[in-house]
Amino acid sequence: MYTYQELLTLVEEGVENISFNTSGPNKLYEPIKYSLANGGKRLRPMLCCIAAQAFGGKEAVKQVMNTALALEVFHNFTLLHDDLMDNSPIRRGKPTVYKKWGGNVAILSGDAMLTQAYVLLAGTSRKELIAQTLDLFNKMSLEIYEGQQYDMEFEDRDDVTEQEYLRMIRLKTAVLLATALKIGAIYGGASLMEADLLYDFGISLGLAFQLQDDFLDVYGDEKVFGKPIGGDISNNKKTMLLIKTMNKADEMQRKELNNLLSLGMADKERKYKSVVALYEALGVDKDVSKLINDYGQDADRILQNLSCEPSHLIPLHDLVKKLSARSV
Ligand code: IPE
Ligand code: IPE
Ligand code: MG
Ligand code: MG
Ligand code: MG
Repeated sequence: MYTYQELLTLVEEGVENISFNTSGPNKLYEPIKYSLANGGKRLRPMLCCIAAQAFGGKEAVKQVMNTALALEVFHNFTLLHDDLMDNSPIRRGKPTVYKKWGGNVAILSGDAMLTQAYVLLAGTSRKELIAQTLDLFNKMSLEIYEGQQYDMEFEDRDDVTEQEYLRMIRLKTAVLLATALKIGAIYGGASLMEADLLYDFGISLGLAFQLQDDFLDVYGDEKVFGKPIGGDISNNKKTMLLIKTMNKADEMQRKELNNLLSLGMADKERKYKSVVALYEALGVDKDVSKLINDYGQDADRILQNLSCEPSHLIPLHDLVKKLSARSV
């Protein structure tokens, strides 16, 4: 069995060795290399490899690697477009592709990454699994676009419910983690029931993960988090923090919040400080922390129903531990 650290090394090597056309226009391929070389937690390929190993040992890790890398390339493609959509200037502590090369480059290099993801998927040594993997991948990617569209539409609404928010983050974030696990499990030879259990685990983990991302967008340390703090507040993103604030606010606080939401970029600092003051006055920071914990516990409970050898799940427990303490 590979340890978490050994798997991460394999994934990093895999990312480094993805081959691209280098004879084409630099402005198409340079941003792709930039995005993939800028690090990140490599969460999705790790989940895929860990699931494969849990059921199929080291051999399954080798076999699933191309597909695991496809998930990482796909994830980075969504980030190129997401940063453009969110007007986000910094990621992983560096200028985002759209800031560095412009919006058109972010769109086109992102498109090329999506295709590269399919090239990697098709390059698997387990040809008999391509159809099944493609089905899962296609279902997942459409769901992510749906989630991203809801996320954008919610910016202009003030009546988004907690339930709508949870559906949105399940789509934009959790299904990718869940699908990575499910594909990994299938490569490892797990039964469909076990693969689906891991999928459900991934959903709970993904909900906790996105809630935490939203939390860190307010309370994180920019240098560690690698993304600007307060971006969600600037964009009027309907995060759980904001939705709970709307729901708990009395009439005066609600009026104040509506005024704050109408402020533009010129009042960014004041808007951020005042919105955070409302969060704290109403205790929604604590509510959301508890919710993150609850989803983490849901995930734990699901894991206990898996039938594979408990020691094979050690890397997964390591990953969950890292995520629950994450500030990046
Ligand atoms: C960022 O994902 C997008 C979200 C779903 C919040 P990650 O936080 O996994 O990004 P990297 O790849 O580690 O930078
Ligand atoms: C991103 O959500 C989800 C996808 C890219 C599909 P966010 O917009 O919250 O991610 P960050 O904060 O920019 O990484
Ligand atoms: Mg974003
Ligand atoms: Mg976004
Ligand atoms: Mg975010």
